[in-house]
Parts: sequence; C-alpha cells; structure tokens
Amino acid sequence: MRISDPKIVARLAELGVELKPGASLAALTSLAIGGTTDLLRIRKHESIPDLLTLLDSNHVPHKFLGGGSNLLVGDGELPWVVLQLVSPDPDVILEGNLAHVDAAADLGRTVTYCAKHDLGGMEGLIGVPGTVGGALRMNAGAYGMQIGSYVREVKVYRAAARKIEILRGHQISFEYRHTSFAPDDMMLAVTLELPSKPYNEILKGIRICNEKRRSSQPLGQKSAGCIFKNPPGASTGRMIDELGLKGLSVGDARVSDRHANFFVNTGHASAKDMLALIAEVRERVQKTYGVELENEVVVWNA
Ligand code: EPU
Repeated sequence: MRISDPKIVARLAELGVELKPGASLAALTSLAIGGTTDLLRIRKHESIPDLLTLLDSNHVPHKFLGGGSNLLVGDGELPWVVLQLVSPDPDVILEGNLAHVDAAADLGRTVTYCAKHDLGGMEGLIGVPGTVGGALRMNAGAYGMQIGSYVREVKVYRAAARKIEILRGHQISFEYRHTSFAPDDMMLAVTLELPSKPYNEILKGIRICNEKRRSSQPLGQKSAGCIFKNPPGASTGRMIDELGLKGLSVGDARVSDRHANFFVNTGHASAKDMLALIAEVRERVQKTYGVELENEVVVWNA
C-alpha cells in the first residue's frame, strides 16, 4: 500500500514520522519472506495517537512491526502500511533492580546489558532474536523462564482507547506464548524488575542456554523460531520428527533437519510455499495424533 496524498505525507513529516516508500518486508523479517509496502518509522511515542488518527481518518490500514523474528508476511504488494518504532539511544536505563527498556530495544543486547550490571533472570532469552516489545507481546520464554515474570510496568498505545496508557504488571495476564494485550495494542516501553546476580554467574547460565540452543536449533538459517505452539503436555517438534517429516519441503520452505518445529527458508521461499508447508504438517499431525496445532508464528497474510 502506498501513501501518495501530499497532505498525508506533509503531516507525517510534521509528526516526525519517517516514510520509507516500498519497503521490502522480506528484508525486515528473519524468515526473509514478505512483499512490499510503505514503512512508517516512529521516533516519538507521543506522536502515535495523532499518527493513528491521521491513518484512520484517511482509511489507511496499518500493522505494527517489532523485530520481525516471529512473523510470516504475505507475498506481493501488501494491503496495509507498516509502523515500526525507532529505538532511542540509550534504549535501556537502569535504576537499582529496575530496567526501563524501550520496546524497540534488541532483546539479546538488553539481556547482555542487564547482565553486565549484575541483573539476571533473563538468561534463557539470550539467543531469541527480536525486540523487547515483541517478546513482551507474546510472553517469549525459553528454558523454564518467561519475560512476563519480570514485568513491573508497561507503556502501551491502546488503539481502542486511542491513547497511551501505563499498565502495572498485575493488570496484564502472561500465559504460555500469550498475553492479555489486545491485538492492536502497541508495546512502547517496559520496566522490568530483575534479580541481582553476579555477572559471572549470569554468564554461566547464558553459556548453558546458548549451548543447548546451538545443539538443538538451526541458528544460522532463516526461520521464525518454532512455527507451532506445544500442545499441553506434548512436544510439537517431537511429533513432527516422529512422523519423519524433517526435510519435507514446498519450494524453498523446508522442515528443519535439526529441529522439526523450525521451518526454514533455504533460498527464495514465498509465503505461499511456507503456508502450504504449515498446512501439510498440521494436517499430518492431526491425522496421526488427533492434535490441532496452533500457530506460534504470527501470520500477516493479505
Ligand atoms: N525433539 C525431537 N525432535 C525435534 C525437536 C525436538 O525429538 O526435531 C524433542 C527433544 O529431543 C525434546 C523435546 O522434543 O525431548 C522438546 O524439544 P526442545 O527442548 O527443543 O523444546 P521445544 O518444546 O521444541 C520449546 C520452545 C522453544 C524454546 C525451547 C527451549 C515452543 C513452541 N518452543 O521448544 O521456543 O527455545 O523450548 O526452552 O514453546 C520459539 O518460541 O520460537 C522457540 C523456539
């Protein structure tokens, strides 16, 4: 979708929003799949209510992009523009055991920065790509921890109320890869309360998680992490593996040989290829195990 009306373009400039026409979503996602649209880069949280009013009153549909690491975007010209926060400098400010973090901050860098200041708890998330806002929205977790456990406060743009609100941690429910945020809520910043731990001890935990991840996940390849959630009490990766589906491909979309719940783009996979692979695997698991797998990856298909 292209914004060509000069009045909208001028207003975007007034709001300090940078318009990048015809951005490739393939270049902005870890799967390297996705078509093109206009990208709006937001520098000031305070401009968001006016920006959203501008887009809505001109009937410009939009979506919020985080780090693009858990996302499968459709092919071709996309029917909505994409909004993305620009990370301020600095994007993490520490105050005792509190870490005030911008939603656009890189998750891995945030975990490392806090660790260097003797703040731990988030070791399990070290190899998870993406932004802190993206991790927060879906309550990312690994190796027995989840980010939600450390949330003290969240600054969020609530589309329904058309305003920026501060929510306390107890007002948000964090479940397995799910939160009570509305789909159109936009994460802006979070305050994490982290336990004090000596850096060396945190580093040990980080090394262990890194090693486990390296040995079981296809880290150097283009993927969106796990494609499906684990059903209660079961492992999706193990089920797909037991069905002998590692290596199953549709075009360049392929079930990873290393971890069967990771689907990788081995070259120039399209969204159509990846969606066909997802449908095929879902059907085979349903047939054999009677389990309806739920997507973990977020799909933006036109
Ligand atoms: N397994 C297989 N074959 C495979 C993959 C896994 O037999 O191809 C078996 C493993 O041997 C193990 C069990 O399945 O006994 C579970 O595997 P793993 O420890 O890799 O964990 P997972 O349940 O597949 C979850 C998260 C990961 C997270 C890891 C580590 C989900 C959907 N996945 O994977 O998160 O990194 O635990 O805590 O909850 C993600 O969210 O994108 C993600 C990758």
